[in-house]
Amino acid sequence: MELAAIEKGGYEHFMLKEIFEQPSTIHDCLRGRLDAVSGTITMAGVENNIEQLINANRIMIVACGTSWHAGLVAEYVIEELCRIPVEVEYASEFRYRNPIVNKGDVIIAISQSGETADTLVALERAKEQGAFIFGVVNAVGSSIARLSHAGAYTHSGPEIGVASTKAFTGQLAVLNMMALKIAKAKGTITNEYYLQLLQELQDVPEKVEAILKNADELKTIAAKYKDAHDFLFLGRGYNFPIALEGALKLKEISYIHAEGYPAAEMKHGPIALVDENLPVVFIATKDSYHEKIVSNMQEIKARKGQVISIITDGDEVSPTLSNDTFSIPTADEIIAPMLSVVPLQLFILCWHFKRCRC
Ligand code: F6R
Repeated sequence: MELAAIEKGGYEHFMLKEIFEQPSTIHDCLRGRLDAVSGTITMAGVENNIEQLINANRIMIVACGTSWHAGLVAEYVIEELCRIPVEVEYASEFRYRNPIVNKGDVIIAISQSGETADTLVALERAKEQGAFIFGVVNAVGSSIARLSHAGAYTHSGPEIGVASTKAFTGQLAVLNMMALKIAKAKGTITNEYYLQLLQELQDVPEKVEAILKNADELKTIAAKYKDAHDFLFLGRGYNFPIALEGALKLKEISYIHAEGYPAAEMKHGPIALVDENLPVVFIATKDSYHEKIVSNMQEIKARKGQVISIITDGDEVSPTLSNDTFSIPTADEIIAPMLSVVPLQLFILCWHFKRCRC
């Protein structure tokens, strides 16, 4: 480990440093694995066990907290690309109930530290029942890495900040590569789409860099809402887990109430909470759900909620329904969560600083 990796390097907080490190940590995760020109992904842990993975009856993803959110994104991606049923479990639930685990099941364990007790015990139990364990872990040589039959490290470097940021985008990078590799081997993805997604993954570090360059815009937006007591984060599809992640980060960093929700579920009750004092953060990037999420924005506006939206460059509709917007570069909907989470991480930290210093 290099000394610089565990120092703040001029940043006020480790979390801020780690958010800004993401172009290089994602690049490190992809380096030596992904080659968009030749159309190859090299991951020994996947290659050596490809039969086990493509023939899995189902995949169970076991994790906690932010890592669980990465698992939720992966559920959508793996089901879409690989056509394998996926279940995502909180390790703390899985370990105490009596889950049905069969021999053909694959468990993907996601953990930054590789030491989370609930995840570790859940895996031990699943391993005893004959499951194949694939670890997506950051900490090299950690207990979860050692317990796994195979795996892929995220190579995000030491994460010192309590709130997980760069480990999350590293997890998404590994899980996306894994899904693409399985889909290619299984023949459930067209070559054209496979090559497009490879290129888009390769472009992520540069796009994250572009988002970070506009950090000041998020500071300005955060200042406007510094007196809020609650926040609501809404998303659909691939961005639904990002809404959950936004709410978790805000609670963890700022000690105020926040809730993440699937945007379409609001009408089934929680919309009653919306009034002019509630900032509602929409993760509304251009994807196959966009028209639907725009209609959810209209529902919030009709209740006088304050809409802050994370949108794709060039979106002309969402700003007409939003009090504030932040634009991110265009990306395929499978890749978009790796980008849309970054402004949320920054917004939350900026909001915390504004609140504490005013
Ligand atoms: C949130 C956060 C936690 C962790 C969770 C799992 O910012 O850091 O929710 O994600 O405790 O930890 P790992 O990934 O180390 O198993």
